[in-house]
Parts: sequence; C-alpha cells; structure tokens
Amino acid sequence: MNLTGKHIVLGVTGSIAAYKAASLVRLLVKEGAEVKVIMTPLAKEFITPLTMATLSRNPILVDFFNPENGDWNSHVSLGIWADLLLIAPATANTMGKMARGIADNLLLTTYLSAKCPVIVAPAMDLDMYKHPATQENIRILKGVGNIIVEATTGELASGLSGKGRMEEPERIVDAVVDFFNAGKLLSGVKALVTSGPTFEHIDSVRFIGNHSSGKMGTAIALQLADRGAEVFFITGPASTIPNGHPTINVIPVTSAQEMLGMAQRYFDQVDIAVMAAAVADFTPETSATGKIKREADDLILRLRPTVDIAATLGAQKKDKQVLVGFALETDNEVENARGKLKRKNLDLIVLNSLNDAGAGFGHDTNKISIVDSSGALTSFGLKSKAEVAKDIVAAIQDKIFEKRSH
Ligand code: CTP
Repeated sequence: MNLTGKHIVLGVTGSIAAYKAASLVRLLVKEGAEVKVIMTPLAKEFITPLTMATLSRNPILVDFFNPENGDWNSHVSLGIWADLLLIAPATANTMGKMARGIADNLLLTTYLSAKCPVIVAPAMDLDMYKHPATQENIRILKGVGNIIVEATTGELASGLSGKGRMEEPERIVDAVVDFFNAGKLLSGVKALVTSGPTFEHIDSVRFIGNHSSGKMGTAIALQLADRGAEVFFITGPASTIPNGHPTINVIPVTSAQEMLGMAQRYFDQVDIAVMAAAVADFTPETSATGKIKREADDLILRLRPTVDIAATLGAQKKDKQVLVGFALETDNEVENARGKLKRKNLDLIVLNSLNDAGAGFGHDTNKISIVDSSGALTSFGLKSKAEVAKDIVAAIQDKIFEKRSH
C-alpha cells in the first residue's frame, strides 16, 4: 500500500467522466488512503453520492452546511485535514473558477483555502479543451503549483474523438503515488527518535515524571517516515505516539536508564538521532519495593542525576551521523542553546522558549528556532507541531546531505 495514512480530499465535478471517480476512490482506498469526497451540485447528476459515500467510507460533502441539522462543512478544516486535494474529473467551468478565484461552491472554497498540494485531472470535449480560455486557465493553475494530469486522446461522450478524455483512474493514482514518493528524499535512511517523558520510580506505585505529551516527537517521527526514513521511536509513557505506521517501530520504555539502553542499542545503525524526549534530570537514589507507608515524619528522597542520553550519544557519534537535541529555556535562550549544542556534541539544537505563548508542553502549536553547529540561527513563527516538524526535518535533511557531500 503506497498511500497508507494519507488524507486525500477528492473533488468531483459535473462531467460525464464522474463515473470514473468511483474507481478512483476505490483505488485510493485500496492503496491505504483515507478519502473524503466533495461533489459539486452538478456532479450529483452524473454519479450518486451514495455510491461515492459507500466507496470512500465517508459522508459526501456538497453544501456549505447540512440542510437537515445545520452542521457546517468547514472548507478550512477540510483543507487542513488534507495532505492532497485531487480534483478529478475537473470541468472547464471548475478550472476556470479555480484560476480566477471564484468560490461559489464547497469544492471551490476548499480549493481556495487549501494549503496542501493540488492535482487536477481535466475532462471535457475536445474543442473546450483546446479553447484558448481553457488553455490559459491550465497555465494559471500550473503557475500556482497545481499538478495537471493531462487529458488523453480518444473517444469522447459527444461522439467526437480527440483530446479531452480524463486520464484512467489507475494512471491518476500512479500520479498521486509518484507525487508522494517524490518527497521521499530520506528513503534508505534510518532514524532514532526519543519522545515523551520518563518516569522515575520512587516505589511500586509512585514516580517522578513530567507533563511531556509526546506530540512533538510523534510529529517528527511521522515527518521522517513520510520522507521515506525508517524510524525507531523510543518513547516514555506519553499520551501521544504514532500508531500503526508501517515504517515507525515504537519501542516503549519507562525510565531514563531504560531509554538510554534502547537508544544505545539502536544508535550504531542509524543516520539520524532526534532527542525529543523530556528526560527526567534526576531519579531517586533507591526505588522501594512495595508502597512506602505514610509516617509522621517528613519523607526525604535522595535524588541522583540521570545519565544525559544526548551527551552519551554525542560522545559516540560518527562523522556522518546527525544528532539533534532540544532546549527548553527561560532566559539567555540562544546562548544556553549554543552551550548545550557544544557540550552534547549535537549538529542541530531546536530551541523553544517557555516565554512564547502557545509553545511547549501539551500545546498543539510550537514556536522554535534552530541553531546549527556552525552557530547559524534560524527562527520560525508559531505553527502547528506538524508544520514545525516539517521545518525541523527539512533542516535535518539538509544536514545529512551536507555531511554526505563532504
Ligand atoms: N536530554 C537527554 N538526557 C537527559 C537530559 C536531557 O537526552 N538526561 C536531552 C533532551 O532530550 C534534549 C536535550 O538533552 O534534547 C536538552 O535537554 P534539557 O533538559 O533542555 O537540557 P539539560 O541538559 O537537562 O539542561 P538543563 O535542564 O540544565 O537546562
């Protein structure tokens, strides 16, 4: 399955080729994609929403809101959900509106607000296809980065023969798979990611832990895997882990000591190691078996420092390996981050400041800067953790290629 976990919004417009959208959705689902279908009002005349809903396993979206219960179909959230917007078949009318920014149905508002890539497979009569207006619209769409799967030549619904037939569903799915594979610059690369908190046992029922959710580590692992890397995901007891991804191996651990053991076990064979875990800095000197009883006196816990996993791997690092750490700082942020980068022999350090609203533990957003071992600093705006992961992995990828070229 080449599209596992991919979110695809399929837009179907009012063309006789709409019947082929049924095979298209079936093939996309077979490849592992999750598909939501938006139909233009006219598309419903060519293929029933029931067919499309059954094949896509999701309700069909046509209107801005559901007339029965008033539920709002948000084009913005659809655009955010989607990894790809595929419009097939796309009529001359819809392409014209896309090119000119007209937004008079749910598909068009979704198109205009989507941040994801767009693939368009036109279908129309040969003269409509040839018309300078259509050709100009195709140029505009290509100009804004939309990928056009050109129509093919053959028999058309009008009885005429020429260029205008929508490409076969199998070929459109090939184009979709090729599109996702093109981004796989990390194929053949292995990565280790530590994530989540660690729990340090005080006794059989109590521990010292922290609020790390594992969201940032998970987003990074997914992004590495999306680009083709195989990931060893070593996670403490976090609320978020990547579930069921074919190339992410989840390795659960509890304490800093166990996380270190697993990190060392895999470090030799990986090209990239990302230390996203919020490892406890201290652990109880002794962990009691059973439950410590409440007593009248104070309970004094003696803590000793845990081993620094990032620094341990940094000391063992080979030239071609890329080691990435995080720094959560409150003051003298950049200076402290640069110090940690040196001390732990990292190649990159991702700095998030506790002073930024919406950044850090538990949030779905983060605001980071990346410090390079050369000292260079790049700062990014507040973004979703998935978007932040893209920036981090892009920097890691540059580093890998930089090291390989030396
Ligand atoms: N780290 C680690 N093992 C530890 C502590 C930290 O691998 N025992 C890693 C974290 O995963 C992170 C980086 O080191 O990538 C920096 O963690 P941070 O807690 O900010 O730094 P510390 O070195 O613990 O310094 P301090 O707490 O004094 O700021």
